[in-house]
Amino acid sequence: MVMLCLAGSVVPLLADEPARHTFVIGTNDFLLDGQRFQIRCGEIHAARVPREYWRHRLQMARAMGLNTVCAYLFWSQIEPRPGEFDWSGQTDVAEFCRIAQSEGLWVILRPGPYSCAEWEMGGLPWWLLKNDDIQIRTRDPRFLDAAKRYLKEVGHALGPLQITRGGPILMVQVENEYGFYGKDAEYMGDVRQALLDAGFDVPLFDCNPPNHLKDGHRSDLFPVVNFGSDPAGGFKALREILPQGPLMCGEFYPGWFDTWGAPHHLGNSPRYLTDLEYMLTNGASFSIYMAHGGTTFGLWSGADRPFKPDTSSYDYDAPISEAGWPTDKFFKTRELFAKHLLPGETIPEPPATNSVITIAPVEVTEYAPVFDNLPKAVRDDQPRTMEKYDQGHGCILYRTTIPAGPAATLEAASVHDFGFLFLNGERVGVMDRRNGSFKVQLPERKKSATLDILVEAVGRVNFGTEVHDRKGIHAPVKLEGKDLTGWKVFNLPLDDKMLGKLKFRSSEHESAPSLHRESQSRLTSAATVQGFNKPAFWRATVNIEKPGDTFLDLRSWGKGVVWVNGHCLGRFWNIGPTQTAYVPGCWLQAGKNEIVIFDLLGPEKPVIAGLEKPVLNELHPEKDFARAHRPKVTLQLDSAPPVLAAQFAPGSQMQEIKFDAPVKGRYFCLESLSAQDGKPFAAVAELDLLDESGKPLSHEGWTIACVDSEERAQEDGTAENAIDGQTANYWHTEWGAAQPNHPHQLVLDLGKSQTLSGFRYVPRPGAGDGRIKDYRIYVGDDLIRR
Ligand code: GLA
Repeated sequence: MVMLCLAGSVVPLLADEPARHTFVIGTNDFLLDGQRFQIRCGEIHAARVPREYWRHRLQMARAMGLNTVCAYLFWSQIEPRPGEFDWSGQTDVAEFCRIAQSEGLWVILRPGPYSCAEWEMGGLPWWLLKNDDIQIRTRDPRFLDAAKRYLKEVGHALGPLQITRGGPILMVQVENEYGFYGKDAEYMGDVRQALLDAGFDVPLFDCNPPNHLKDGHRSDLFPVVNFGSDPAGGFKALREILPQGPLMCGEFYPGWFDTWGAPHHLGNSPRYLTDLEYMLTNGASFSIYMAHGGTTFGLWSGADRPFKPDTSSYDYDAPISEAGWPTDKFFKTRELFAKHLLPGETIPEPPATNSVITIAPVEVTEYAPVFDNLPKAVRDDQPRTMEKYDQGHGCILYRTTIPAGPAATLEAASVHDFGFLFLNGERVGVMDRRNGSFKVQLPERKKSATLDILVEAVGRVNFGTEVHDRKGIHAPVKLEGKDLTGWKVFNLPLDDKMLGKLKFRSSEHESAPSLHRESQSRLTSAATVQGFNKPAFWRATVNIEKPGDTFLDLRSWGKGVVWVNGHCLGRFWNIGPTQTAYVPGCWLQAGKNEIVIFDLLGPEKPVIAGLEKPVLNELHPEKDFARAHRPKVTLQLDSAPPVLAAQFAPGSQMQEIKFDAPVKGRYFCLESLSAQDGKPFAAVAELDLLDESGKPLSHEGWTIACVDSEERAQEDGTAENAIDGQTANYWHTEWGAAQPNHPHQLVLDLGKSQTLSGFRYVPRPGAGDGRIKDYRIYVGDDLIRR
């Protein structure tokens, strides 16, 4: 039996043996073999790291000074079809845990059933949505029975790896930040029981942000608190429900995730290090979310609510970069941890980074138009969402015939997420869920025409009740107010089976497009002139002498998905911020390598290259097909007197404000008149509105009706941050190119008139400006004129 000395205790190398070690939650500390154990943990997702690189990343984590790694499971990937479980390849989490153990790391497991994590639908399987009115993350038996079956399977696969059986798993999390979603402690009890029934006998815990710790809390679950700053404040809130016991931060954010069209997030390193030191010095345990973000390969990236699709890069500005490189933050963290080691503990040297290569620009000449590669159609009277056609991901094409006639308005109830419209194969418009624009003007038709609506699903929302995110067209589709019926529906799941059937032809025979951009407008590029702006798959064969990691430069392409040698690298979109796709060298081979690019818009230049560095922060709003970031509207504050004029208290705590009497309206306007620090800025981390009984309203269907100013270049200060449920990000008025002064207005469109008794305001977190002082509130149906 090989022994490895770590943290004054011994990590056994083989699992399922009689327990050698004990891990308990003591009165004041975690106790490993009876010794005080400060958990220095970091999050790494096996699914976001090529299996071949798991050991390298875990060695990096160890070399950063971590003694534990935390891992989510993603139910949707483990049970792709009801009752079909797949623990192979990227989902072989047992192997991931064994490697962690062999590298001297303990493991904290977060199996879900819900995980969030910017993963499609928060890790929940799409097929749950085949039930029309299923209530996800509740005691709805259709949800709970499926969750129990899944957790039972998790018990089979990972139960033997618990410390109680000689393995590395110390603790298991029940659900994830449930307090953000509900208050039903019974539901949490059912999930807890399911994990016990599945054979987990290590401590079970739950996690929540400070202002939701009490929601759904149970005394038989050990609570940890999630925060990105102000550890003292976070632990103070935790002590309210955990008067005694070790303090742990379950998610401590060194950076943040990116969404398409918003600036790349960079964490505040000095504050990150100060807060880490605070926790180390005060004997608190923590888990850095993310220690290494990696990449959301495949079609697994989710979307933040209300609907901000996540990039496939999950670099997260983490200490260990997307390609596994040690960053400055890595070395500073390592230095800091070296000052806080437990007796007998050492930190190994980091492993070598994987080799990196470049690939010279290659012209992509093979081409397979989508419309020439359609599968057999399904006929349907009304268009339905893709789940109804037993499809989970990718695209879906809806086709019907419309009569000859004058220019006309076509409108769908809604489209999740982007609908590209074609008349007789010619592109005529886009429906865009980001700003709720589901109306398109169709030109005059001399004779009846074929209408195609090609819908792209870009990942189900992973947070809030918006996870009930059915993809495709939500009927009806009306032409001049009249329902269009008699549709042909084509499933385009973008899976291996579909790719295998594509018939490529050489674009050369179609007089290859000149490689220079012919025109500037968004939807027309060089390819347009040559008719290559139709949605199509492109293919190139690239010869590589010695494989190594590289970053595919996708800047001359439009919007879509890319594969290398059959591995789906994820999504790309020329609006940025991400402009490259990480290619792990282990997925390349010496000799011929196949690159396939699915582009919905068409390339400016059908050229591909491999760079030695990623491009994670290059925005091109001018390339966005959304005409404007927000529909132009007029704010009419004189349409109703303010329902409240008051002053917020200073500080970062959430503030609940009650109106003298309930008010009714579709629009809610917060107008800031001054800031606590006297500066011209306003910022809001989160806004919740309270219904007549004082309960927070669901954010479902909420959009930003208008906002006078938002910083979108220097940082992601987009207004949606104020209603996405996350308190770690925030709306912030411009401070880069301009610094407009108060008054500032943020207007929410609730989608329909609602009765409100008050609201909750969460000021921006951490230090920094924008905390509002004097303000007014307006509520009404006529605040906005479109
Ligand atoms: C939350 C979730 C995580 C992740 C982070 C943001 O706290 O628990 O899964 O979504 O936010 O990255």
